[in-house]
Amino acid sequence: MQDARRTRKRERNPDLIPAHVAIIMDGNGRWAKARGLPRAAGHRAGVEALRRTVRAAGDLGIDWLTVYAFSSENWSRPRSEISDLMGLLRLFLRRDLAEIHQNGVRVRMIGDREGLEPDIRSMVDEAENLTMNNAAMNLVIAFNYGSRHEIIRAARTIAQAAAAGTLDPEEITPESFVSFLDTARIPDPDLVIRTSGEQRLSNFLLWQTAYSELHFEPCYWPDFNAERLAEAVRTYAARDRRFGGVAARDVAL
Ligand code: FPP
Repeated sequence: MQDARRTRKRERNPDLIPAHVAIIMDGNGRWAKARGLPRAAGHRAGVEALRRTVRAAGDLGIDWLTVYAFSSENWSRPRSEISDLMGLLRLFLRRDLAEIHQNGVRVRMIGDREGLEPDIRSMVDEAENLTMNNAAMNLVIAFNYGSRHEIIRAARTIAQAAAAGTLDPEEITPESFVSFLDTARIPDPDLVIRTSGEQRLSNFLLWQTAYSELHFEPCYWPDFNAERLAEAVRTYAARDRRFGGVAARDVAL
């Protein structure tokens, strides 16, 4: 039976649960290699982990979940692997969209759509249109995404508007700049999780993570689950976020 609670927005304690969690899903290839399997098997297991994580994030009351599924640098991988990853996105959008929609999840994609096959572009449009009024949770899929590229595309649009005289350069501020990014109207991540033990951002949301808390999880992405997400959230809850200021308790000292 459909769990009706899932379609409602969970009440979130903002001190304990981050509003926005962004995940670098790393380690599919190493997970497969450790089992003597082809890399494609690691990516397939990665989709399973993604399904689990979307459900677990909803259960925790997380409002936004962004996942890095294909970077603009991933085009340098072998053609067969690129084709596997494109196939998995197609499959995910075809097979999982109904459940995602039933659970009240709104889907969005960030990244450069121009470089994607037309059928993928229309599947993404369809998923965004179908789910646009959902409010239980937001799933943002970063696909053909690279942060430097995103910032350059924004800068180019701004430069064109300034050259055309429709934008005064004096009016460009951090607040107005964000409206030109793919993540316009998406809050900055509170917590970034990277699996597989690697400790870097790899061109993921460089502008948006200026004040994000970072959590590096040793397990490979296909082994990620609800308990590991809950553990990452617990470490987040123990952090002291100052955003460049001082903690409230230290102000009088
Ligand atoms: C990094 O592991 C993972 C990726 C480049 C792809 C992430 C994709 C998925 C989890 C599945 C696809 C999901 C959708 C929605 C299409 P890696 O291959 O770099 O692993 P390695 O560092 O161990 O080689």
